[in-house]
Amino acid sequence: MKVLAILYDGGKAAQEEPRLLGTVENKLGIKEWLESQGHEYIVSSSKEGPDSDLQKHIVDAEVLITTPFHPGYVTRELIEKAKNLKICITAGVGSDHVDLNAAVEHRIQVLEVSGSNVTSVAEHVVMSILLLVRNFVPAHEMIERGDWTVSDVARNAFDVEGKVIGTIGAGRIGYRVLQRLKPFDPKELIYYDYAPLPAAAAESVGARRVEDLKDFVSQCDIVTVNCPLHEGTKGLVNAELLKHFKKGAWLVNTARGAICDKDAVAAALASSQLRGYAGDVWNVQPAPKDHVWRTMKNPLGGGNGMVPHYSGTTLDAQSRYANGTKSILENYLNNKPQEPQNVMVGIGKYETKAYGQR
Ligand SMILES: NC(=O)c1ccc[n+]([C@@H]2O[C@H](COP(=O)([O-])OP(=O)(O)OC[C@H]3O[C@@H](n4cnc5c(N)ncnc54)[C@H](O)[C@@H]3O)[C@@H](O)[C@H]2O)c1
Repeated sequence: MKVLAILYDGGKAAQEEPRLLGTVENKLGIKEWLESQGHEYIVSSSKEGPDSDLQKHIVDAEVLITTPFHPGYVTRELIEKAKNLKICITAGVGSDHVDLNAAVEHRIQVLEVSGSNVTSVAEHVVMSILLLVRNFVPAHEMIERGDWTVSDVARNAFDVEGKVIGTIGAGRIGYRVLQRLKPFDPKELIYYDYAPLPAAAAESVGARRVEDLKDFVSQCDIVTVNCPLHEGTKGLVNAELLKHFKKGAWLVNTARGAICDKDAVAAALASSQLRGYAGDVWNVQPAPKDHVWRTMKNPLGGGNGMVPHYSGTTLDAQSRYANGTKSILENYLNNKPQEPQNVMVGIGKYETKAYGQR
């Protein structure tokens, strides 16, 4: 069996830190295990263009492992070239880089390690909310510059306490964000999701569901995006929706970059419609050097909490998704059924999934 993995280059860091499992150097920790059973295991970061390893090796690979952190885009065209491909495994959560419709048509199973990094992301969301609301980044930059003008940073710093905080998507990550925010004593926690939370889950965090998206955003001081990227969410937060946000709201998106319109977000920040935007996901990854989200600012020179895509790839998360990838491979090799929550069968899954399955 030929297994192809497209992972990110870890360089010196991966040589020094073996727990960086999701890298080309450390190969998800499964190289010896796979090769000892006679399988071929190709690992590379080369994913763009006709001469990339992804294009070259997909032709006869039986298993493809990709990761959202350095997405190997599995397009319809690529799937049509992949005559021997049986399963695509996402080492992590979120398989929007795979054309799920084409995969279903070609009877290729797409699996991901559901739940493996949801706590890691939820913590990052809470951190990003705090750093935006409290104006942390400009305050730290001031210290590095050698300056000390408290009023310049305090003029745009607030408390999370007493704010209305809402999540678009109240699944594994969104719900964990609500749980973690409750002790901050917000004015209210609200959510927008076409699957309602079970009454007991909603009650335990005190979250109210709002069914209309414009109505939802107009009530929030802080909005966080925690839904998957699919046809229904691409560009969901666009110039039109941003008009309905409260003036000066904060927006945190660690779900997928393309859910928020790049230029509309930058314009909303420049006009103070948004006071801040933070996240780790970008419409193209790696983000080009001149991507507007790298440097955009509010008129007071702050409001940018962007980082590379790493919230779900902490060392703790890498251990979980590497183990999960191995379990999926073991099931495949032994003809055992996969865990249902790991199977991505297409977009319909999100419309029918019950909370209890999360
Ligand atoms: N930044 C990272 O490192 C990282 C890591 C893991 C996951 N993610 C992203 O976070 C997403 C959510 O992960 P999860 O584990 O919570 O998934 P999940 O499936 O448990 O929850 C997603 C929720 O979004 C809801 N939803 C779907 N479409 C919606 C829409 N149009 N409007 C409102 N709600 C909608 C679903 O009903 C579900 O409740 C993933 O799909 C992935 O894109 C990012």
